[in-house]
Amino acid sequence: MEKQLLHIEYLVYDDINGLDDADAWLLKEAREVTAHAYAPYSHFQVGAVIRLANGEIIAGSNQENASFPIGLCAERVALASAASVYPNIDIDTIAISYHNINGDSSHPISPCGICRQTLAEYETKQDAPIRLVMGGLSGKIYVVNRANDLLPLSFSGDELAL
Ligand code: THU
Repeated sequence: MEKQLLHIEYLVYDDINGLDDADAWLLKEAREVTAHAYAPYSHFQVGAVIRLANGEIIAGSNQENASFPIGLCAERVALASAASVYPNIDIDTIAISYHNINGDSSHPISPCGICRQTLAEYETKQDAPIRLVMGGLSGKIYVVNRANDLLPLSFSGDELAL
């Protein structure tokens, strides 16, 4: 038996003022886009805004449904939109924010497992890192420089015999 250890690196900023101008702008957009969420069931509004390598900006917000499992997270709405509109342009950074209508919105959230798998797919496809900038409406910011760092030992298309 051999024990293997994994570690991930993420950067912690005290608040948005520590970010460079481009990341601060993107996170502010994500904060604003939370207002576009359709979240009548959870009242948890999420905004995700992507900056592409060509400078284009694509936004997404969570879209819920009375049939709960078919709801879409903001990250996947933004990723699918970016991949549809600009299929051959790399994703550089995705900023993620949220507004918890009935609670606190002052700490970072990170993507759910399904969104991590989706991010991993696009990062592998483009063979270039996707950065994540995560923060609430206020408070600390986390930055992860490679989306795959959030999903170690992940399942990928390499496993499929095609
Ligand atoms: N949600 C997101 O949009 N992104 C996340 O990273 C976590 C959760 C959404 C899904 C659902 O509409 C609501 O937040 C509560 O889980």
